Amino acid sequence: MRKLTRFSNRLTVRPLSERDFFSWKKAQEEMLPAKSLFDAPGKPLKECNRTEFKKILRKHREGIKGNQHYSFGVFLKGKKCLIGYLGVKHILRGHYHSASIGYWIFNNYWGNGYATEATDLCVTIAFEDLKLHRVEAEIQPANKPSIKVVRKLGFWKEGLSKKRLFMRGRWRDYLVYALTCEKRGYSLNLT
Ligand SMILES: CC(C)(COP(=O)(O)OP(=O)(O)OC[C@H]1O[C@@H](n2cnc3c(N)ncnc32)[C@H](O)[C@@H]1OP(=O)(O)O)[C@@H](O)C(=O)NCCC(=O)NCCS
Repeated sequence: MRKLTRFSNRLTVRPLSERDFFSWKKAQEEMLPAKSLFDAPGKPLKECNRTEFKKILRKHREGIKGNQHYSFGVFLKGKKCLIGYLGVKHILRGHYHSASIGYWIFNNYWGNGYATEATDLCVTIAFEDLKLHRVEAEIQPANKPSIKVVRKLGFWKEGLSKKRLFMRGRWRDYLVYALTCEKRGYSLNLT
């Protein structure tokens, strides 16, 4: 059965639900202006209403239903406090069973080890629930905190992928880091 939910000492990672509206709204209100080039600005406060939240939920649900894109909220455990998002996207099945993972901790929570702890749970979901064989992270070389996250989780560097993604107005190079399920003690046999 796919639980799509995991707990660590401090965090809960799970898909968002309707009941998370006030947590989401509070998170948008408390987020600081973008702190680095790689930080995403929060939603303009005038867009933090139920209609917008429902649009986000619909998008997340469509991704899950189509087995294409799984999005998760990161919550402080036992609290209704949303501190970031995780995503498992670009899922390839067939002979691949691979995906990219993404992580974003809201900038008022940076530097507490939350990204590492949350991404670890996301990797577990990817291997145990989504039955993926490989997860990759695409990271711009200057995004040092992000590189530290994947290195601490045992990802290895595959190399620099030239002109990989169109971001902030141009095609940019990305480092590709990867982890396969064997490194976590799982095996996936497709026959
Ligand atoms: C990358 C990101 C998720 C890290 O979140 P975080 O919760 O602060 O990360 P952690 O606390 O788990 O720390 C990871 C490492 O980065 C270091 N770090 C955190 N912020 C840093 C900063 N501003 N500069 C340098 N190092 C930093 C931490 O010290 C830690 O390393 P250490 O264990 O050697 O001390 C967060 O900065 C973020 O959301 N950035 C914007 C979105 C993004 O870049 N996502 C990744 C796209 S590939």
